[in-house]
Amino acid sequence: IRDTSDQVSEYVAAYVKARIEQFAPTPDRPFVLGLPTGSSPIGTYRRIVQMYREGDISFKNVVTFNMDEYVGLPRDHPESYHSFMWNHLFKHIDIPPENVNILNGNAEDLQAECDRYEEKIKSYGGIELFLGGIGPDGHIAFNEPGSSIQSRTRVKTLAYETILANARFFDGDVNKVPKLALTVGVGTVMDSREVVVIITGANKAVALAKCLEEGVNHMWTVSAVQLHPRSLIVCDEDSTLEL
Ligand code: GLP
Repeated sequence: IRDTSDQVSEYVAAYVKARIEQFAPTPDRPFVLGLPTGSSPIGTYRRIVQMYREGDISFKNVVTFNMDEYVGLPRDHPESYHSFMWNHLFKHIDIPPENVNILNGNAEDLQAECDRYEEKIKSYGGIELFLGGIGPDGHIAFNEPGSSIQSRTRVKTLAYETILANARFFDGDVNKVPKLALTVGVGTVMDSREVVVIITGANKAVALAKCLEEGVNHMWTVSAVQLHPRSLIVCDEDSTLEL
């Protein structure tokens, strides 16, 4: 628990840097990093970009897999997760573009795209560190309440609560928010060797309490991290109101 969300960002950015350094990646043995979108990781990405500019971190030998993407939004739509990731992180650092993996929400065969993603993750020997955030309903990636704890990458219908929460990015209009997304599964996240979840703000307080203080529950999918041998939640004071 850190006092402020800025301190959370500082902590998580330093954590990622330390893990990459410890791993000492090479082109043949890259560090495989899972990444989230949303407002929660923005401060962390800002800090990482700053560290990169100061020569403190390199992504040359890092391969990334994003958690999720909307279905049917053009890739260059300002709210697509492609745009989000390039704008907030990738265009500012030295990651080779071919090392970036983001689900294609416009693929002709969406399930085939999801299966391809799982295979590609496997081809790298799995994800070393999966960074995540959560929705107010406790979802990790887009694993909405009711998602199986064993779920893999697939098409998911968004919960109304998520559509409402994300309407702020679409002129406040729920009708403009895509109703489907592609998302890695809870099982995909759990297969990574380490999971770090960023949770900030009072609107996440109930979800944080459900996740930590109740049992593992597929209605609060982030609670699955209780079963992970190396999981870490980095949160601010505001989000701990219900603990
Ligand atoms: C979306 C993303 C999630 C993210 C959540 C929270 O639903 N699919 O991966 O954790 O938003 O967003 P925010 O951090 O803006 O609260």
